[in-house]
Amino acid sequence: MSDIILETRNLTKHYGGVHALQDANFVLRKGEHVAIMGDNGAGKSTFVRQITGVEQRTRGDIIFDGKPVNFSGPIDAREAGIETVFQTLALADDLDVPDNLFLGREITKWNFLGPFRLLDYRSMREATLAGLEKTAVKIPNIRNSIRNMSGGQRQCVAIARTATFHSKLTIMDEPTAALGVQETAQVENIIRTLKEAGEPLILVSHNMRQVFDLVDRVVVFRRGRICANLDIKNEDISGEDVVAYITGAKTQAGYEDAA
Ligand SMILES: Nc1ncnc2c1ncn2[C@@H]1O[C@H](COP(=O)(O)OP(=O)(O)O)[C@@H](O)[C@H]1O
Ligand SMILES: [Mg+2]
Repeated sequence: MSDIILETRNLTKHYGGVHALQDANFVLRKGEHVAIMGDNGAGKSTFVRQITGVEQRTRGDIIFDGKPVNFSGPIDAREAGIETVFQTLALADDLDVPDNLFLGREITKWNFLGPFRLLDYRSMREATLAGLEKTAVKIPNIRNSIRNMSGGQRQCVAIARTATFHSKLTIMDEPTAALGVQETAQVENIIRTLKEAGEPLILVSHNMRQVFDLVDRVVVFRRGRICANLDIKNEDISGEDVVAYITGAKTQAGYEDAA
């Protein structure tokens, strides 16, 4: 058995003439937490959208859990075990918290009238409460529809969803960019919980403090290409070094193409 959970080979996405992602070769090992960093427009979200099937790639291979995959959409990716918090939140406005947590994977039970699958609200509610408790996310009333929630609370619901369901891989695209200090701390606790549980994570973040606190490794994107792979746990790499790779002031050996 391989210890690699996700690998991309020459993953490329062009939007017409815009080379948003070019030949990304990326490896994530089981249990590993990796940050993706890079300037705005560097291709980070494009990379996430190709892996999760939100868009169809121009070319390249995606190998997930040992098999080449071609997800038709994010629900397909979720069914395969990839839980994603997208940069633009994909929460349904009119559903309440449990419904949003279970979107696409409702618990059903058989009813006495025959073979009709009914939503089992009681189980969903109990699982929601257990999930939120586990993540220390504070939501005043979970029966409120998402529409009435602040951006931070919405984000927390989406993130709680990733912690509620044990997935093979969690991806978070700038999960704390719109959050306050307390909510950010809660999300960081969720990330630590995933790490302790041995669940791998890809974290897109601009927050250097957060990245150095939480992850094992930093992969830097620049103008659609991976330009550095930094083992921040074992090597003497500072935040300033990472910024230098992000801006292109520094080039890592082996990545001269991206300079
Ligand atoms: N749907 C799209 N159509 C055309 N260009 C796009 C589209 N999505 C992203 N881009 C372009 O691709 C590049 C990478 O964008 P993105 O992946 O969102 O960057 P990041 O997440 O690193 O800020 C940018 O130049 C952006 O303008
Ligand atoms: Mg982005």
